[in-house]
Amino acid sequence: MKDHSAPKALSAYCERPLSGSVKIPGDKSISHRALIIGSLAIGETKIYGLLESADVLNTVEALRAFGVNIIKKGTLYWKVDGVGTGGFREPNQVIDFGNSGTSARLILGATATTPITATVSGDASLVKRPMDRVIRPLSLFGANFLSRRNGLLPLTIEGTDNPVPIEYKSPVASAQVKSAILLAGLNSPGRTIFWEPSLSRDHTEKMLIDFGGSVKTENIEGNSVTTLIGECELIGRKVFIPRDPSSAAFLIAAALLVTNSDVTIPNVSQNPTRNGFLKTLIEMGADISLNNHQNISGEQFVDINVKSGALRGVDVPPERATSMIDEYPILAVIAAAAEGKTRMFGLEELTVKESNRIAAMETGLRQCGIKVESGKDFMIVEGCDKSDILGGTKIVTHYDHRIAMSFLCLGLVAKDDITIDDSNSIFTSFPNFFDLMKEIGVQFKTK
Ligand code: S3P
Repeated sequence: MKDHSAPKALSAYCERPLSGSVKIPGDKSISHRALIIGSLAIGETKIYGLLESADVLNTVEALRAFGVNIIKKGTLYWKVDGVGTGGFREPNQVIDFGNSGTSARLILGATATTPITATVSGDASLVKRPMDRVIRPLSLFGANFLSRRNGLLPLTIEGTDNPVPIEYKSPVASAQVKSAILLAGLNSPGRTIFWEPSLSRDHTEKMLIDFGGSVKTENIEGNSVTTLIGECELIGRKVFIPRDPSSAAFLIAAALLVTNSDVTIPNVSQNPTRNGFLKTLIEMGADISLNNHQNISGEQFVDINVKSGALRGVDVPPERATSMIDEYPILAVIAAAAEGKTRMFGLEELTVKESNRIAAMETGLRQCGIKVESGKDFMIVEGCDKSDILGGTKIVTHYDHRIAMSFLCLGLVAKDDITIDDSNSIFTSFPNFFDLMKEIGVQFKTK
């Protein structure tokens, strides 16, 4: 098991408006997929703009343990020598996915239809997160699992040598479940079909098509249905990764909150399955402009400019939840400084992220003097004047990067310091968060 270094308590503040143009790192979801799909392809894949965060490096290490040769070529790109679908070698060590649910679920999918056995685990947060959501469908392909009670890690997967394709109806819209099934389907004969109640992020589908796979998605009676034809050959290629919209969200929030700020973030992913946060901010009255739209290998890129200004609370409908699932913690922070209530619905998936994010946000915001109500699938934040955001408190982040970054942003406008108990989690997704925040004018105090 990886050992996290000693907790590092911090708070953030600024003494001037925030400004500048900042190049944030590559998208986490697409980085995982580029490595995994590159590994399952034939030939060489070159990945430009890979996110080099702890979560993604866990995927690199895991794939190496499965026999894939992956190397970093200077500062330019990462090279993956694909082993082809079904080409994974049996690892001779326990695979540690650290904090990364995406690495765990996707790589279990990629292993399920290859006749090898692997034992996998993760850190204190990942061993509490539900794996039964992938164990159930992957078992239908013919894979066997031995896990802790209720499908928790550590677990051992025994991939099948005689996979059968499946048709699976997922009760939740989840890109991790969908991707696990599609990756398992690659080495199964015939059609693998995945139903979800609404379209979750579709990076896996787009990338598989780009590598020569056969995948289509249609809407059937309000459900999103994705069909993959198995046993196709994927061919290695170049992948250009857009910058991560979920990381951009923290810089956007900081710029919205701090008076007279003006910040630009170029080349951010503008995939329509990820744009719920920007949609919501625009409804709240945010001064945001999107420029320089580009489309590279099916993924959309855009430059985001954001200026501070007064915001009003809105209702965020449940059907938008999938397209901004990782952005609710930072939206709750922005809502705290907006006029009126922001009511967010359809949040049940937030309770099974790196922490229970409804509970973590509610507790932390209340500590800062903000009124919050919540239930198992909703959260209502009552906005207040910035001068009423009290601070002077220490937030328990549960080793959750998005909780940590959210409260650092809120600290920029609080009366007294908001201290997060541990900033180390931020390296799981956004390794140069501190440098880039400093670049636009934020300062940090070690506590
Ligand atoms: C991810 C999908 C989402 C998201 C996670 C990354 C992915 O999870 O919350 O941070 O890369 O597929 P779910 O698929 O569980 O909703």
